[in-house]
Amino acid sequence: MQIKSVNESQASSLDSLLILLREEDCENLANLELAQELKDVIKTLVSRKDFKAKKGTSLRVPLVEGSLYLAGLGKSEKCNVNIIRDSLTQGLRSIGRANNKNVCVIVSHLKEYNGLGFVLGEASGLCSYTFDKYKTKDKDYEPFALDSIFTDINESEEFSRGQIFAASQIYSRELANEPGCVITPEILAAKAQELAKEYNLECEIWDEKRLESERTGALLAVGRGSKNPPRLIHLIYKPVNPVKKIAIVGKGITFDSGGLNIKPDNYMLTMKGDKTGACNVLGIMKGVSELGLNIEVHGILAAAENMPGGNAYKPDDIIRARNGKTIEINNTDAEGRLVLSDALCVASELKPDAIIDMATLTGACAVALGKHRAGLFVNNDELANKLLDSSQRRGEPYWRMPLEDEFISESLKSPYADLVNCGERYGGAIFAALFLNEFVGENTAWAHMDIAGTDFNDKEYGVYSKGASAFGVRTCLDYLMRL
Ligand code: BES
Ligand code: MN
Ligand code: ZN
Repeated sequence: MQIKSVNESQASSLDSLLILLREEDCENLANLELAQELKDVIKTLVSRKDFKAKKGTSLRVPLVEGSLYLAGLGKSEKCNVNIIRDSLTQGLRSIGRANNKNVCVIVSHLKEYNGLGFVLGEASGLCSYTFDKYKTKDKDYEPFALDSIFTDINESEEFSRGQIFAASQIYSRELANEPGCVITPEILAAKAQELAKEYNLECEIWDEKRLESERTGALLAVGRGSKNPPRLIHLIYKPVNPVKKIAIVGKGITFDSGGLNIKPDNYMLTMKGDKTGACNVLGIMKGVSELGLNIEVHGILAAAENMPGGNAYKPDDIIRARNGKTIEINNTDAEGRLVLSDALCVASELKPDAIIDMATLTGACAVALGKHRAGLFVNNDELANKLLDSSQRRGEPYWRMPLEDEFISESLKSPYADLVNCGERYGGAIFAALFLNEFVGENTAWAHMDIAGTDFNDKEYGVYSKGASAFGVRTCLDYLMRL
């Protein structure tokens, strides 16, 4: 799909017109650069109180040719470019669903918000995404696609950057939405290889034999109960003279049944999404390649299926991770931290400038922060501030969580091994982060994103469709882009 810049007189000849307005704009219509007939229509709608530009509201008005869509941004003091992006996505979605192919988007009156072109690019990519490949297409169900978007701003470079961000998120969502019967660790590795081929990335896959010789005992333990063996996937994007080296690590549990500590009833549903961290890492590798960033980026995915079975790892087992530390298992459902422990060792050995890991790690994090904000644990203030800045710029909220807690640290100790994999219920997200910290190299800047809760949406809103969200991709790509 193409985004083209047009002037306002060309705009009215299209099938539909999308205009984003703040509440204050409705009172100052004279200041908008719009055809007088359109202003008159809007004026009438506003005076009849049909449209007040409240945040999240929209109105469709049939015109002689095509339709006019008004979308509300709320009060100007609260408006920002992320609200604009959400509103654009929703607007484009309803226009597409009404079977329009071409749309003109009027946003030049919002020029004071930097990055309009970027969010238009992003919205244009994300508006039509749904996970519908298994649905039979017939007259009751037809996906939509827009042909072209015309707009009254001219920011073609920013359009395409936004489109790259969108494509990275869609890549991650599409994989994360696939069920466990489709994506196994081996298939995830094959997907990574495909991506590597497309973008000329280096790609190394460790199979179960290699994992044995590489002493990744924790990843192997988690994978043992399944007939689908685990994989460690390592992708490398390496420009000629990179200015930094960053490692991004993802939890890739292709299905989390809990293992022998099996999850009860509903808790197992949506656990196909337990590979979201890994899918995000692949999305980010795609984005980094398309953006052509001048940074060496390592994507490391720890992939396993957590299943009960005759050969499954058990409570009371003592296993040894790659850095030699021994772990007493007291809950097989605390498997994410185990697969990540070996992956963090591999990442640390690369001596990167920073490691970022992403994982649907603990229900406790979702209990603490809700489903729309992820936990951020960072051992370095500069890295924390950069990530929080990127998160704010791109509208993915995080909350910084503590890594210092003497009581929880104490509870990591096992009477028989170096560590236990699971502590008490209280402070569960912090326990998990402190556990991961045991596998991060000394003096390595490290951030851990606990994206449990933010990984899946029950319903469509803003840029999100029902299902996988790819939460984390925007923040990480923005951070990498600005290094
Ligand atoms: N994958 C889950 C965490 C999760 C829960 C993600 C809900 C998304 C939504 C993780 O492996 C897990 O099972 N964690 C346990 C840890 C517990 C056994 C210490 C949890 O959160 O209950
Ligand atoms: Mn689990
Ligand atoms: Zn899990």
